[in-house]
Amino acid sequence: MSQHAQAMRRHFHEAAARRGFSVAPAQEAAVDRLARLAAELARPAWTFPGPPRDLYVWGPVGRGKSWLVDTFYEGLPTPRKRRLHFHDFFRRLHDGATWPGARHDGQSAVDSALDELIGDSRVLVFDEFHAHDAGDAMLIARLFRTLLDRRITLVTTSNYPPAGLMPDPLYHHLFEPTIKLIEERMDVLDVTGPVDFRRVAVPAATDGGRRFATGLCVPPGDAALEALGLTVPAAAEATTVQAHLRELPARAVRGELVWFGFDALCEKATAVPDYLALAERFATLVLDGVPPLAEVSADGRQRFANLVDVACDRDVRLLLIGSDPLAALPAGRALTRDLDRTASRLAMLRRADRSLRPGQRP
Ligand SMILES: Nc1ncnc2c1ncn2[C@@H]1O[C@H](COP(=O)(O)OP(=O)(O)OP(=O)(O)O)[C@@H](O)[C@H]1O
Ligand SMILES: [Mg+2]
Repeated sequence: MSQHAQAMRRHFHEAAARRGFSVAPAQEAAVDRLARLAAELARPAWTFPGPPRDLYVWGPVGRGKSWLVDTFYEGLPTPRKRRLHFHDFFRRLHDGATWPGARHDGQSAVDSALDELIGDSRVLVFDEFHAHDAGDAMLIARLFRTLLDRRITLVTTSNYPPAGLMPDPLYHHLFEPTIKLIEERMDVLDVTGPVDFRRVAVPAATDGGRRFATGLCVPPGDAALEALGLTVPAAAEATTVQAHLRELPARAVRGELVWFGFDALCEKATAVPDYLALAERFATLVLDGVPPLAEVSADGRQRFANLVDVACDRDVRLLLIGSDPLAALPAGRALTRDLDRTASRLAMLRRADRSLRPGQRP
């Protein structure tokens, strides 16, 4: 094994040890493959007949896929690298497509947005690759073409095997050419292990000090809120907060903390770019009046799922006050696509009915 590959393998094992775990058997093949990719990327591009092969890492929620690709990214010595999260990618491309100068030329606007996203990188890490509608299919196909043209190596994670992408039978055929391309051009690695690591007790203190892992999901008046000094906002604290292209009514803003009612954020016309804007500005997001998701509108559930995704990816501390959103969900019925992702992420928050996990502080 080359020196660069060995250095990357060591980096993985050290990163795991720092967080108090070890690389799981189901992750080993991915660690080896990512280490080899690091060695390939260390060679000057002109010594290659083509760019190193792309990688597609997939598996169910909480199997450590994001950890694998983020650790790889962090350990790559080259500055010519980019990391993108699915939500971020779409926000930037949609913004690009609506730039004023782009009004009559949507195509080139998307291309310029892609240019800006990719810059001079040789490798692009794209976390949480999925597609749900015709717009996604078009933009992803464009991304693939651009990466191929520019000989940029793509490393993605997904909850879906390539053939399962775009599960909606109405749209699946639109994505078939991209699926074929993925199967031809990418090495597909399945990291399905037996456990969702978010559901095993990883002490928050060793979880890379992630803020998201210090969140709460409790009823109003819970002692944990008092311990944090969180008093219910006075009416006079009500204010508006600038989100992406709209202002949102908040119950309070206290330094890096913002407090919303569930309805203001999830039952009004808000979207991922708004949550990203909030995540840029606030370290803690309090949501009160949280109902069981079984009682929420389909759009409300989807917004909440997206909000949790953004908070987890951007490491925002989420304090949910109200009912347990996942209580009384009808078993086995897919209420919202990807709700298992939400459940896995919420499993990291401390619940009122659960004692403090080892190492976790209030
Ligand atoms: N081998 C491991 N042992 C224990 N914990 C791990 C291991 N690998 C990763 N983790 C931890 O498991 C948690 C979930 O990992 P991660 O977010 O990477 O999952 P994921 O596969 O990307 O999930 P999703 O599909 O929901 O995005 C993280 O806190 C991560 O640090
Ligand atoms: Mg992930």
